[in-house]
Amino acid sequence: MTHQLKKENLPEHIAIIMDGNGRWAQAKKRPRLFGHNAGMKTLRKIVRASSDAGIKILTVYAFSTENWKRSPEEVDGLMNIAVEYFKKEVGELHQNNVKIQVIGDINGLNAKVQKAAKNAMDITANNTGLVFNVALNYGSRNEIVHAVKALIEQGVLPEEVTENRLNEELYTKGLGDPDLLIRTGGESRLSNFMLWQIAYTELLFIDTYWPDFNKEEYYNLIEIYQKRNRRFGTA
Ligand code: FPP
Repeated sequence: MTHQLKKENLPEHIAIIMDGNGRWAQAKKRPRLFGHNAGMKTLRKIVRASSDAGIKILTVYAFSTENWKRSPEEVDGLMNIAVEYFKKEVGELHQNNVKIQVIGDINGLNAKVQKAAKNAMDITANNTGLVFNVALNYGSRNEIVHAVKALIEQGVLPEEVTENRLNEELYTKGLGDPDLLIRTGGESRLSNFMLWQIAYTELLFIDTYWPDFNKEEYYNLIEIYQKRNRRFGTA
């Protein structure tokens, strides 16, 4: 049975590090890509659950700047999954008023992925429901360096450099910081994800492998968040 979430103190922006696909597959003696395919199915459910719960922004870590170091088979497989995901899901997401965005260095992706991602973004650009950000070829340090370069190129003077000004040059421009970050898969680290943006984010690390994660557990985590008292550095 799926429970209803209380509307009070709902996180506006949730970020997720979807980890554990490989180990999930390994435990079943199947190839890693079997795990990523199962992970794609979990992602579909979690996007729907986010939209149903009235979450405003969901950002997921799908492929990092470090993931290129994986075997060519795994990298190719993940890129194909990305294309399949955008092509298959765009229709239903559009119907549900979801706005799809890609954050990361999109120009570093192959032409097929770029095309599928841009098409999904174009179709859903004017939607007003859940903003769904897929971090692809994303790395937080790369993002910050990219932002600093942009400021220098614009001739911004040192005294004009502020947190807000730098924020404007990040891939996450206009999104607001995540209120809650969830990492599945049992590791308690950030792996170069949204380092700037999570300064005051509530962090939840859980053991469940991403393919086993579901709406029920997701809503339980949101309820844990709803009970937390955020002070943003005040007493
Ligand atoms: C981490 O698990 C997961 C990834 C690097 C990829 C996440 C991709 C999906 C959930 C599929 C949906 C993808 C797109 C592009 C829409 P891991 O492989 O590091 O697992 P492990 O730590 O158990 O090895």
